[in-house]
Amino acid sequence: MTTDITKRIIADKKNGLSDKEIGEKYGISLRVIEEAITREMGVNVSIPNYKKRIKSLFPKDFKLENSTIWSFKQRGSWATHNGNYRGNWSPYIPRNLILRYSKENDLVLDYFCGAGTTGVECKLLNRNFIGVDINPSAIQLAEENANFPTENLFKDFKTGIEFKVGDARDLSFLDNESIDLICAHPPYTNIIQYTHDNINDLSHLNIREFLIEIHKVALESHRVLKEGKHCTILIGDMRKNKHVIPLGFRTIKEFTKAGFTIKELIIKRQHNCKTTGFWYNNSIKYNFLLLAHEYLVTFQKAEKSMVITNHIPNDNKYKDIQLSKSEYNRQISIESSSVWIFNENNWLNNTIANLTERYSKKNFNLFDIDKKHDVNYDLIIKMSPNLLNECLKFAKFRLLNDGILAVICEDIRLKDGTVYPSAIGINSLVDELKEFKIKEIVIISIENSGQKKYRNELEINHKYILIYRKVP
Ligand SMILES: C[S@@+](CC[C@H](N)C(=O)[O-])C[C@H]1O[C@@H](n2cnc3c(N)ncnc32)[C@H](O)[C@@H]1O
Repeated sequence: MTTDITKRIIADKKNGLSDKEIGEKYGISLRVIEEAITREMGVNVSIPNYKKRIKSLFPKDFKLENSTIWSFKQRGSWATHNGNYRGNWSPYIPRNLILRYSKENDLVLDYFCGAGTTGVECKLLNRNFIGVDINPSAIQLAEENANFPTENLFKDFKTGIEFKVGDARDLSFLDNESIDLICAHPPYTNIIQYTHDNINDLSHLNIREFLIEIHKVALESHRVLKEGKHCTILIGDMRKNKHVIPLGFRTIKEFTKAGFTIKELIIKRQHNCKTTGFWYNNSIKYNFLLLAHEYLVTFQKAEKSMVITNHIPNDNKYKDIQLSKSEYNRQISIESSSVWIFNENNWLNNTIANLTERYSKKNFNLFDIDKKHDVNYDLIIKMSPNLLNECLKFAKFRLLNDGILAVICEDIRLKDGTVYPSAIGINSLVDELKEFKIKEIVIISIENSGQKKYRNELEINHKYILIYRKVP
């Protein structure tokens, strides 16, 4: 792109034109607009030189999250928080994590700190903070965002908020076991690019390269964290050729390989996903689901004295789900995003109805090992991971080519308080079989009306449907 067009894009932006208007004016995509801004301004921002006026220092009616589905309809705009830095996280996320996993005067680290959301929250919650980012312009923005008066907020205000340019893969400026909490939000490979040509920016990598580098980040995280303390990461999936790429599951595995256990596996709903009109119709026409969730994972560095029983639960841990009266209602509205919100009483019927409506034109099968079969199916539904190997053998034989195998499962809280991530375990197993390719990861969010209390551990109130296509 010529420097002339780049300059005109920046001028249009400063004059308040939207991305859509600029795109139409020059016939270019959002990605090209972002590239121009990142090259010219040094950071990927929506509005160049944006200044936020502070109206309040705290969120109104804030409540700590206590289940595994987190959903913030408004992103949060207290203090200097704003959505100008592309891909920045909602301040509700670090606020919840900081309050749950640290105490005043602790030292919190965010090594993908971007425009400083976590640092601002540490300042408001009286925690010490170190923010690292590979991009000097992002660090400058973060310093500006964290520079606001908080007089008389705390009687005993002695915390320090510090930002520095650096690489998350090399935290050698930090001692072993010196950090109380890590809160970080990496790039999702190259979905959004944060710098124009910084070779150490992980947002320029493909998936294979990204996973190798994120493993180095995980090792450094484990080294600098104190025993028993937590490292929290937000990561999402990607989509290619109407199939999901489970970047979330793969990233989580890199952290467990580095020695972490999983304390919580939270689903963060995304609200920018368009579930009506054009996108809804396309999701039905081309049979794919719009990604509407990310994974927020709390890893823990075990204390040497901790007994970790982090083993794969045996089959009888899984409860077999029964379909009520073998009835299901086909008169439903079809879900178009990757998060299906049902209530305790109707989730199974709605799930089966959605799966059959989307994936079955002929015969579908609710897998039952004892039944005799003499037909082939276009959809096989496995209601729990129980006897999964038998079901996989059956699907190899009885599922039509391009047919769908849907496995319903849920994470399991083990006796030692850690979470066994069933969906990740199952996906690793099926991934090794070349006959099946992951097509969708659906989250079923089970809403119950009961009043939830704050507990040490979150209530697991989501399930997964892993949807595989049989590859011809
Ligand atoms: C998703 S953004 C983080 C946004 C941040 N949570 C916020 O609210 O502003 C990811 C950040 O990772 C940074 N980054 C990319 N590669 C890095 C690396 N090797 N070391 C440190 N930071 C890196 C990018 O510059 C970008 O700011």
